[in-house]
Amino acid sequence: MTKTTHFGFNTVAEAEKARKVAGVFDSVAERYNLMNDVMSAGMHRLWKRFAVETSGVKKGDRVLDIAGGTADLSALFLEQVGSNGEVWLTDINNAMLTIGRDRLLDEGAAVSVAQCDAEKLPFPSNYFDCVSVAFGLRNMTHKDVALKEMLRVLRPGGRVIVLEFSKVWKPLQSFYDLYSFKVLPAMGGLIARDPDSYRYLAESIRVHPSQEELKQLMQNAGFERVEYFNLSASVVALHRGYKF
Ligand SMILES: C[S@@+](CC[C@H](N)C(=O)[O-])C[C@H]1O[C@@H](n2cnc3c(N)ncnc32)[C@H](O)[C@@H]1O
Repeated sequence: MTKTTHFGFNTVAEAEKARKVAGVFDSVAERYNLMNDVMSAGMHRLWKRFAVETSGVKKGDRVLDIAGGTADLSALFLEQVGSNGEVWLTDINNAMLTIGRDRLLDEGAAVSVAQCDAEKLPFPSNYFDCVSVAFGLRNMTHKDVALKEMLRVLRPGGRVIVLEFSKVWKPLQSFYDLYSFKVLPAMGGLIARDPDSYRYLAESIRVHPSQEELKQLMQNAGFERVEYFNLSASVVALHRGYKF
């Protein structure tokens, strides 16, 4: 029987999900950064800075940025690791990755780039001090497989940080629903000329695991000392886990 999964509120064949996700990011890549600033009122920059600070990355470290897209996290990690460190910007989507790579090159940053699927990482085991994934896990077909891959490439003592939309603080739920299902698609239509992709964004957040469920998924994958930090009334959560 064909295995199915979520694509927003729709149920699709597993094989179809990656194709549909690729369609979303091919479509929004050019306006992705502008949309992030507008729809989060600039907050995404603070969430990402908090994520990098919480990662504990220091000079000389090796960092893998998975689903790195337009390279916001990679740019911050490059500042942290200095000239003796190593940062890999990776993503499955060529349109997103090209924008990220060009931006870092324009900034004169020395970054390594690889187009790859988080579920099959082309890196050796026990190599990285830190693996990050920001707003990417939600889009992956087999989150459990991706998390196990992240664990594999981390060195013992290394940590993963997962920044993702999460379950919002209950009293804000109805306002958040209105914003997500009415305002966001309208903004996506105006700015990115693609309301459907931003409707998918809102739906994919609703079917993504809660803070506690994601913590459990990370523990099941083999991460230890998993904890999370709720940000902006839990619109977003940062999870951190270690490999020992
Ligand atoms: C919302 S963007 C996040 C980009 C960036 N990390 C940020 O925070 O701005 C999600 C990214 O996940 C990537 N992605 C989706 N599925 C993936 C997979 N299986 N492996 C690697 N990247 C994936 C998409 O191509 C897209 O660039």
